Amino acid sequence: MNSPFWTVHPVYSSNIIVSGVTILAPVNSANTDGINPDSSSNVLIEDCYIISGDDCIAIKSGWDEYGIAFHTPSRHILIRRLTCISPTSAAIALGSEMSGGIQDVHAEDILAIDTESAIRIKTSVGRGGYVRDVYVRRMKLKTMKYVFWMTGDYGNHPDNHYDPGAVPVIEGISYSDVTAENVTLAGQMQGTRKVVFKGLCLSNVKIGMAKGVKRRTAWNCTGIEGTVSSVSPSPCSMLRDVGCGRACPFPKERFPIERVRCCEE
Ligand SMILES: *[C@@H]1O[C@H](CO)[C@@H](O)[C@H](O)[C@H]1NC(C)=O
Ligand SMILES: *[C@@H]1O[C@H](CO)[C@@H](O)[C@H](O)[C@H]1NC(C)=O
Repeated sequence: MNSPFWTVHPVYSSNIIVSGVTILAPVNSANTDGINPDSSSNVLIEDCYIISGDDCIAIKSGWDEYGIAFHTPSRHILIRRLTCISPTSAAIALGSEMSGGIQDVHAEDILAIDTESAIRIKTSVGRGGYVRDVYVRRMKLKTMKYVFWMTGDYGNHPDNHYDPGAVPVIEGISYSDVTAENVTLAGQMQGTRKVVFKGLCLSNVKIGMAKGVKRRTAWNCTGIEGTVSSVSPSPCSMLRDVGCGRACPFPKERFPIERVRCCEE
């Protein structure tokens, strides 16, 4: 309860299970993230209940030139059965510190209530690294500012020594089977000319907009590329509609951490 900063923070670690943990922090407290796997691999986070003033879960891997030099990704992370309340942040954030790379993230059965966004990917020129092969399915969302949020110019550098040529690669991001109610903006997806979010896939997404919000302005996109199938309200034209019934992939591959059995007395 009431951690002054990130609550559970495995860093440079591997083979981690966080199971059945409740984390509570005031919803108006900054930086009180719930669980932050940071340059860590083979992580299972399941059956957690988190109320926070910052991201419920945030996956990270180092900041600009320091993260590039340390070069240690966060990989093979499975998040399942998460319940999140975070009025000013995301249920699951990727970044903004992602300079060591983030890859192979699976998330499923996510319930978020009164949360600013479901999944947020945030990065900037100078970060380098990558975020790729992220698969999310079965999210139920209620009262949310943005369901899908992507930010390619987050800024926020540790100092002035970052490399402006270190352009992050963001590709292969899939979201499927999402229902949401009382949403202000379905997608706030802002890549930039240099940081394009590529290979996005959205399928079977039903978003109920908040009262007074026009469906026509439900999506605000720049610098993104991808495809959609059965998404309502109908998304921006940068997401090409491939017709209904074309589900985004969700890999059958299981991570080694999913095969761990805990012994009970
Ligand atoms: C809808 O969301 C607004 C905040 O954007 C909130 O004040 C309101 O209570 C929500 N309505 C319902 C029915 O949950
Ligand atoms: C879209 O997002 C950009 C970047 O945040 C913002 O400047 C712009 O006003 C938004 N447009 C609309 C129509 O909301």
